[in-house]
Amino acid sequence: MAESKTLHDAFIDELRDTYSAEKQVLKALPKMMKAASSPDLKAAFSNHLEETREQVVRLEEVFASLNEKVRAKHCDGMAGIIEEGKSMMEEDFDETAMDASLIAGAQRVEHYEMAAYGTLVAWARVMGHTQAADLLEQTLDEEKAADEKLTTLAEGGINQDAASVAHPDGDNEDDDDEPAKPVMKAATKAAAKKKPAGRR
Ligand SMILES: [Fe+2]
Ligand SMILES: [Fe+2]
Repeated sequence: MAESKTLHDAFIDELRDTYSAEKQVLKALPKMMKAASSPDLKAAFSNHLEETREQVVRLEEVFASLNEKVRAKHCDGMAGIIEEGKSMMEEDFDETAMDASLIAGAQRVEHYEMAAYGTLVAWARVMGHTQAADLLEQTLDEEKAADEKLTTLAEGGINQDAASVAHPDGDNEDDDDEPAKPVMKAATKAAAKKKPAGRR
């Protein structure tokens, strides 16, 4: 019987998966840049495209530090996220809704990457692959910063601009077809549920 694979095998596997993910992002970002209207959002995508190029090289350095050949293993997870983004970009959104939706899609990408690099850093550290861990951590930090930048852009005007198009008269009241009653019912139910828990 073949020997079981170890955490080190899982680590190399995850590296190959992430290498594939970064290469997919490399292809997607220019399309997102093109689809964006806000100059700040375009710039953020362009900046992250440059970073992503460096991240691909950094992963190659990680493989080298482990005496492993550079190899990609198709990342189905990232492919799915990018596929969803593609469908979104084909929608006939107004410019502001498109920008807000591009941020939503991009943040899915960043969070997926943060999950991958978070694991990779932790596994590299616990197995004593310090050089790999340090390199991977640099990328993890860049992904986190990219995600935060997107939040800043969304909350710094892009969402509001899109909301103003969606509700031109500042009419952001509940729609008539959404009566308040069921909401209150749900709230009452939640409060009722909470009570016994509080007594424990
Ligand atoms: Fe990345
Ligand atoms: Fe990223």
